[in-house]
Amino acid sequence: MTQLSQKKILVAVSGGIAAYKAAQLVRDLQRAGATVRVAMTEGATRFVAPLTFQALTGNPVATQILDPSEEHEIGHIELARWPDLIVVAPATANVLAKAAVGLADDLVTTTLLASEAPVLFCPAMNTQMLRHPATQQNIAALRARERTFLVEPDAGELACGEVGAGRLPDPPVIVDAAAAVLSPALLAGRHVLVSAGPTREHFDPARFISNPSSGRMGYAIAAAAKALGADVTLVSGPVSLEPPTGVECVPVVSAADMQREVNARSSDIVVMAAAVADWTPTTTAEHKRKKGGGDWSPELQRTPDIIAGLAASPKRPVLVIGFAAETEHVVEYAREKMKRKGLDGIVANDVGGTDTAFGNATNAVTLLAPGQDDVVLPRAPKRAIADRICGWLTTLQGSNGNS
Ligand code: CTP
Repeated sequence: MTQLSQKKILVAVSGGIAAYKAAQLVRDLQRAGATVRVAMTEGATRFVAPLTFQALTGNPVATQILDPSEEHEIGHIELARWPDLIVVAPATANVLAKAAVGLADDLVTTTLLASEAPVLFCPAMNTQMLRHPATQQNIAALRARERTFLVEPDAGELACGEVGAGRLPDPPVIVDAAAAVLSPALLAGRHVLVSAGPTREHFDPARFISNPSSGRMGYAIAAAAKALGADVTLVSGPVSLEPPTGVECVPVVSAADMQREVNARSSDIVVMAAAVADWTPTTTAEHKRKKGGGDWSPELQRTPDIIAGLAASPKRPVLVIGFAAETEHVVEYAREKMKRKGLDGIVANDVGGTDTAFGNATNAVTLLAPGQDDVVLPRAPKRAIADRICGWLTTLQGSNGNS
């Protein structure tokens, strides 16, 4: 299962320079499992040929209203009824204005008016046009409308040479926003805390103990929980990833930092996906240790077991979910770990062999919970695994009887 599997998405392209990015967006929506059709305004066809989208989608591209040949392929009313979601990308100031007042003078605006599907507008334009009170009023009117959503434009260098807000966000951001619109809000009103990445335990400012965790699995879980409507906090060790949109990110370095930040927040669900270092130096030197001549046997002590502490605390979250990184007897060791740490569920993760989960874009896991059948998830992209994990969370009962 992928983020948008079985979903039908109509991408409506309007005439801005960012129209070229719509081709990549179509590809990314398809990769996320969606079936995509494309409609274009007259202006958009001057930036990108309809044939590009026809080749990508394998479907004719709608550009004209009441055109006998196009109406023969799929009539405009049928096109309006077809999608689960309409994504307008890029949405020019002109299209936003027409949509705000309900003008229908071309195929895209007529389809918007004739459709009951939710609409995700992705505004992209010159900064001044975006800032203009008329555009701002139109955006506010659309935001206030039922089943209508907007992706904030990015700031940066624009095609017109100006620097400011108005760039079309990168396609993966739009794909996530589309998934969020289409996901049932199974975690609405829940605060989910996810830990991710490695921790670093410093000997001195220049040396530390750590592990190869990339943080990708935890970041994907944070994004998936957000898409299901949760308020999400990501407590993250040092990684080179951008936090998902709309997720609060709390950067930490050591296991002790991570424990402090996790315990400082009250959450309904905690998912400890972090690869917490198990040992830390008993002392951390303020300055870099000089090598000198000899060997060195540093003294290490155990780091606090964050998840076990949380599961035993009086402020225990409703669900405390762990990860078990194992290289052998994966499910057996994970089950034992779940019992020993008092968890409501555990994600058993095989990190052995050559196809290790560390740093990989894909993962294969088994989900274990007391009294429940094991759920085996074959190898899939980490975001797809994360979607399944979050769906599974909504089925679990906490050990204190709540769900
Ligand atoms: N964990 C934690 N605090 C630690 C170590 C681990 O909260 N100091 C959490 C991890 O985030 C994970 C779970 O405990 O959710 C299991 O982590 P893992 O490293 O597999 O287990 P350990 O308890 O460290 O056991 P071992 O290394 O002996 O297998």
